[in-house]
Amino acid sequence: MGKVPGEGEDFLKGRSIFLLGFMGSGKSTVGPLLARVLGRPFVDLDLLIEERVGKTIGTIFLEEGEAGFRKYESDALRKVASRECVVATGGGVVTREENWDILKKGFTVALMASLEELERRLAGSQGRPLLKGDRDWRGLFQEREPLYKRASLVVDTTGLTPLEVVEAILRGLEEGKP
Ligand code: S3P
Repeated sequence: MGKVPGEGEDFLKGRSIFLLGFMGSGKSTVGPLLARVLGRPFVDLDLLIEERVGKTIGTIFLEEGEAGFRKYESDALRKVASRECVVATGGGVVTREENWDILKKGFTVALMASLEELERRLAGSQGRPLLKGDRDWRGLFQEREPLYKRASLVVDTTGLTPLEVVEAILRGLEEGKP
């Protein structure tokens, strides 16, 4: 994979890299790979929330509703903001304006994919409360698409393997250096 982008550069110093994107965009798959290449710890925000609250995401949604979950999500985000890690966020993190104050302290990378590709990747997905019942997840994706595009780097992952996505991010980081 060659030279590690950002090496010897300090624009990423003291900042986390936040992976944004819809459910199924590959944040939790790509995150650990990217973290390994950059020599940073990896944090999955949903897992951190489950650990801190002591309940699964599904149970939090059931017992405390989406609003309860979003509060925990913002708290967890604040906790990791100034660490130098790679963070896979949940797909809805972009919907709360106050989260952007935190996200912008780090470097934001949005993983995008076509609806068809997301549909394939989400087929058979278990445990995601927003995919249960007759929720219109396609409508949700369309609503959120412009929010993901507020990221500092936007990568189209359609048709790419996880490693190819990592390479695209590394190239983007190299080009996106301020
Ligand atoms: C959500 C996405 C989930 C999780 C929660 C809400 C969303 O994370 O945070 O179920 O609002 O899109 P993933 O994007 O990792 O599935």
